[in-house]
Amino acid sequence: MNKTIQVLFDEHETIVNAIDAAQQLKARLGKNDKQYEQNVRDLISFFRDYADNYHHHKEEQILFPAMKKKNELLADGVLKEMMDNHAEFRELINTVEKSINEKNYIQAQQKLDIYLEALLDHIAVENDEVFQMAETLFTEAELEKMLYDFEDADIEMGSGKKQEFEELADLLRKNLHYAD
Ligand SMILES: [Fe+2]
Ligand SMILES: [Fe+2]
Repeated sequence: MNKTIQVLFDEHETIVNAIDAAQQLKARLGKNDKQYEQNVRDLISFFRDYADNYHHHKEEQILFPAMKKKNELLADGVLKEMMDNHAEFRELINTVEKSINEKNYIQAQQKLDIYLEALLDHIAVENDEVFQMAETLFTEAELEKMLYDFEDADIEMGSGKKQEFEELADLLRKNLHYAD
């Protein structure tokens, strides 16, 4: 795989780790409310800051616009679908947080489950269709330039913080899989 596309692919792996962690939460619902709430809040911050700010930002601001320039037909097709998904994800995460603030954990978990399933489907479409397409649309030089744009985006957002989120996703996954 081209190393520019690999960046996005690796970010998907990190997001899938967090999804995996979040899926373990269902079994813990009702056991320790304080712990459950903290875990959900950690995951909300991961999905907002990492999945949305670091990752979706690259797709929306850099990759998708460049793909549309190459092929106008893409603008109303799969890329629009991907952008609409990102907007839906933001709303869903807000509803998870609202439910948590209201201490309605069952509803929070239901919303979270919808979010996780939708995000997994979204990642599958990008991995299997969008990224494959991107690799064929651009020249090596164009992809190289895009890699610098990705790096600039990470620097702007904070590269150190990005790595902390990657470690957090891994830690949450391990903790939630192997706890009790
Ligand atoms: Fe996306
Ligand atoms: Fe993505």
